[in-house]
Amino acid sequence: MARNLGFFLAIIGLFLGLVSASNWNILNQKKGKYGLQITLKNYCESWRMNVELHNIRDFEVVPEECVQFIGKYMTSTQYKVDSERTIDECTVHMYTCCDFKKGGKDAWIFDIDDTLLSTVPYYKKNDFGGRKLNSTSLEEWMSQGKAPALEHSLRLFNELKGLGIQIILVSSRRECLRSATIDNLVDVGYHGWTSLILRGEDDEKKNNQKFKADVRKKFINNGYRIWGILGDQWSSIEGLPSAKRTFKLPNPLYYVA
Ligand SMILES: *[C@@H]1O[C@H](CO)[C@@H](O)[C@H](O)[C@H]1NC(C)=O
Repeated sequence: MARNLGFFLAIIGLFLGLVSASNWNILNQKKGKYGLQITLKNYCESWRMNVELHNIRDFEVVPEECVQFIGKYMTSTQYKVDSERTIDECTVHMYTCCDFKKGGKDAWIFDIDDTLLSTVPYYKKNDFGGRKLNSTSLEEWMSQGKAPALEHSLRLFNELKGLGIQIILVSSRRECLRSATIDNLVDVGYHGWTSLILRGEDDEKKNNQKFKADVRKKFINNGYRIWGILGDQWSSIEGLPSAKRTFKLPNPLYYVA
């Protein structure tokens, strides 16, 4: 009996060995340089992490082999927990950082897409970033005004409003989407912002980073103190002038320069 069991385990072991060896070989052909036995999950998690660290830039599509992994992440509890943690850090900053003065010039800047509103329902139908962006179809979707709120961001939005901080929304959405954007924001619970800045025709020649930095410059020149920025793209938070602090939400679906 014991000998039979031993034989059985040996066969199973051999089988598993062959399976993992063949898995490893598939990856090895692509990524042989590490000398590590990595799984597809390791590979894709590392891709995602390096997107967030801003080591991977300017990607046009999510790598084909990671589309399923990224789709899973964007619809997972982990994505929600990661985002909630970002918001918690914003809250800590807000209550400890700043010397808010009266006079209505203390301000906070938010992105819109994948910061206040989620585009995940759109990307769910469009291969989770695995296909090159079709801006016509994305704008069609945006014009329907059906994007859900990111709950944790709504909580921060309301908390800031309660403190009397001016809320400035700066989005790379085009001006033609203004009324759909307002309707969508109000529908899901956002109201009482001070300013909504979208990309006008002149701004369309600039990249996102330059457009957003120029907007901040205008507000600062008008006496605003910007205590924080919350965005999902590096181009929303990099560039000068900046804010007292910046916070980035996770977004491995697409990259906006
Ligand atoms: C982009 O989307 C539009 C609108 O849905 C569609 O008519 C067009 O064929 C799409 N273009 C490509 C290249 O898929």
